[in-house]
Amino acid sequence: MTVAEKTHSSPAVPVRDVPVPDVKRRADRVASHAAGVREMFDRIAPTYDTLNHLLSAGIDVAWRKLAVESLASRPPGPILDSCAGTMDLTAMVAKRWPDCQVIASDFAAKMLDAGKHKAPQAERVVADAMAMPFADAFFSAVVCGFGMRNLADTALGIREARRVLKTGGVFTTLEFFRPTSLATKAFHGVYGRVVLPAVGGMVSGDRSAYAYLQESMKQFVSRSEYEALCAQEGFLVRRSEDLTMGIASLIVAEAV
Ligand SMILES: C[S@@+](CC[C@H](N)C(=O)[O-])C[C@H]1O[C@@H](n2cnc3c(N)ncnc32)[C@H](O)[C@@H]1O
Repeated sequence: MTVAEKTHSSPAVPVRDVPVPDVKRRADRVASHAAGVREMFDRIAPTYDTLNHLLSAGIDVAWRKLAVESLASRPPGPILDSCAGTMDLTAMVAKRWPDCQVIASDFAAKMLDAGKHKAPQAERVVADAMAMPFADAFFSAVVCGFGMRNLADTALGIREARRVLKTGGVFTTLEFFRPTSLATKAFHGVYGRVVLPAVGGMVSGDRSAYAYLQESMKQFVSRSEYEALCAQEGFLVRRSEDLTMGIASLIVAEAV
């Protein structure tokens, strides 16, 4: 059953008949999965920030601070916020290191547009995280907040991050990995199946997009599998931890 089919079966909130990517088939449909994800984020861009803060009850600010601080050990050079969305991390990085060149990249131009006022000094680049238009070893750090699980090919996204990083550079991922403990599974199950689509649908009018977010988490790798992918793609994982009882996780890896 696709996410769209599941969503259409629930009568609770009016559903717009819009396509959402089928995360279960992303690996064999790289191009169409990417197009579906991009179109979906462009669609929800106007309400993304309001919902983000509402749905996370503001906890995400603390998670983002940890991610930004993890970049302190990087060598000198520009910083990339990959899958930057509405640029919350970009803005925090630019504020923390005002003299540093900061680039925000995302393939959904409307997400970047919605957030550009937060960090007007940062350059914005519309690009796919699996094929970025940046030179090898250009960045000293890449930070990616809640973007990796949307990629059709996770390993390719990590490989791209490695390619654009200098050796010694820092790659920080903030993500909702597939939960492995019973408690976290239960939390994500209720929250993702009930709260996310209901509240997301009410505010954005796009219940299916918020059902997709839950599905993308369920179909994603676990934190330890992600660590293994980082090691496979040329990183040494320096730090890997669950945040707020495993709701989100932080992984900090060094390009070696
Ligand atoms: C859940 S949002 C997170 C946005 C932001 N980083 C944050 O922390 O709020 C995921 C973002 O990843 C972007 N994205 C997903 N797949 C992508 C890809 N293949 N290339 C570039 N951006 C992508 C989406 O357009 C969206 O803006």
